[in-house]
Amino acid sequence: CQLCLPNATNACQCVLGDGFEKSILTINRQLPGPSIQVCQGDRIVVDVDNQMQGMEVTLHWHGLWQQGTQYYDGVPYVTQCPISEGSTFRYQFIAGNPGTHFYHAHTGLQKLDGLYGSFIVRQTPSEEVHAHLYDYDLTTHVMLASDWMHEVAQERFPGRLQRIPGQEPENILINGKGQYMDPNTGYMTNTPLEIFTVTPGRRYRFRFINSFCTVCPAQLTIQGHPLLVIASDGEPVHPVVVNTIISFTGERYDFVITADQNVDAYWIQIRGLGECGNTRAQQLAVLRYARAPYEPLSPRPTYDYGLAQGVVLNPLDAICNVERPDAICVSQLKNARPVDEGILQEHPDVKIFLPFRFLLYQPEQLFQPHLYNRFLVAPNGDHVISLVDGISFVFPPSPPLSQIEDIPPEMFCNGDNRPPDCGENCMCTHKIDVPLNAIVEVVLVDEVQQPNLSHPFHLHGYAFNVVGIGRSPDQQIKKISLKHALDLDRRGLLHRQFNLPPGKDTIAVPNNGYVVLRFRANNPGYWLFHCHFLFHTVIGMDFLIHAGTHADLPPIPPNFQRCGDHLPPILFH
Ligand code: C2O
Ligand code: CU
Repeated sequence: CQLCLPNATNACQCVLGDGFEKSILTINRQLPGPSIQVCQGDRIVVDVDNQMQGMEVTLHWHGLWQQGTQYYDGVPYVTQCPISEGSTFRYQFIAGNPGTHFYHAHTGLQKLDGLYGSFIVRQTPSEEVHAHLYDYDLTTHVMLASDWMHEVAQERFPGRLQRIPGQEPENILINGKGQYMDPNTGYMTNTPLEIFTVTPGRRYRFRFINSFCTVCPAQLTIQGHPLLVIASDGEPVHPVVVNTIISFTGERYDFVITADQNVDAYWIQIRGLGECGNTRAQQLAVLRYARAPYEPLSPRPTYDYGLAQGVVLNPLDAICNVERPDAICVSQLKNARPVDEGILQEHPDVKIFLPFRFLLYQPEQLFQPHLYNRFLVAPNGDHVISLVDGISFVFPPSPPLSQIEDIPPEMFCNGDNRPPDCGENCMCTHKIDVPLNAIVEVVLVDEVQQPNLSHPFHLHGYAFNVVGIGRSPDQQIKKISLKHALDLDRRGLLHRQFNLPPGKDTIAVPNNGYVVLRFRANNPGYWLFHCHFLFHTVIGMDFLIHAGTHADLPPIPPNFQRCGDHLPPILFH
């Protein structure tokens, strides 16, 4: 229990979250779940004992590559069978790649109700490239931001039509804490804010994790303290100074702040952008110098009158091919370690263009009605599913990693190989095969074209290098499409930059724009690649990268849980 507040009878009551009463899901009765902080090379064993009535679960270790431990990536029906109620699954893997990572449920909407926590893998200072830039890297300076609804997530799915809040969160939490002000009454809960304490004169490494679920980007600003960004998604970058970081769900940023201001307390503000403007969701925390008060004397930043923003990391305008005084694009960060030569060669071994969009339909127009059981509802009543390259992802009945023989081969599909007659809305297990060790270039093209909505895509099992982000340079093109992107590429206008492109595992595709990323497919297995907006993950904005063959995989762990049908022969005559 994170906080004990006396209730009316003066007994102690456990308070998690922002003080608004709702049902939540917890890991070890904590919100967020326990912070797992280990050293590179440590052997990790996590027993997940599912005590949630009527729910199955898996946990995914977001950012960890699972090299050699593919079976523990935690994607249901891809790397394992989900853990049924009442049973325990043992995850075991080595903390391979260092950095700021996190873990979360990868089943249904459970993440939105509280199933997440930080996962930090540290290196010894001699191995850490930026160790000289900070004095402390403390367990207490992990900043995990999440969005928070005042109802269980299922209440908001498939849709809320025109009501506010619809699918936007009421609030934001910082390390599971925060206050909530009722917009109608002005009443504010008296729950505590998260406090990060620093000693004057010292430099601190902060590890920021965006664990949002909804579509709102998060804007982080710390009063009076510039942020020296040193890593993105666990991968070190050449340090850059910014004042504000805009991040999307699944991204992590490490930054250093120097406690060189007056001994005082300073506001930390996280605002939800985009659709969060509807509910004006924001949260505060406090940067407190030792011996200073616990709350700043300066007025509280509000949603509309926030902290000064200065130079922004990750501006949402997609102008990424020029140097600017006001902003730094993610693709302009420079990787701090040398980049694989193969990534920098002109022609990748495999080049894949993947447009993604929504499909809106009236339920009566269905081609395969039995498959359309997961959808959102748009304000006009249309049903909405997601398509990547014309395919809405369906999970197979068994994990291909351990039970490929139990999956009908015709379930798998991709852009060149679709089920007959499915038209432009195929529902199947979208799988892209790439040879082991091939250099793969993926161009994600936003055909959703919803203003203010940039979809963050996350790849399991890898960090990729972001070689380009942009919009069409062609003023005529109001809406980008696969055709336009291919045409731009032919004309050499699809912006790419090969000067130390940053390593990341999650990247937001700017609305009406594209992202070009590359990786070497040196981690065999089936890796989910998907939009990290939770509601989009569950309506098909996913696909699998299948790297290598089954001969490249380590053996299935002994006694590994299997799934499938239970149809013994009929015993009666
Ligand atoms: Cu954090 Cu597949 O996701
Ligand atoms: Cu999306």
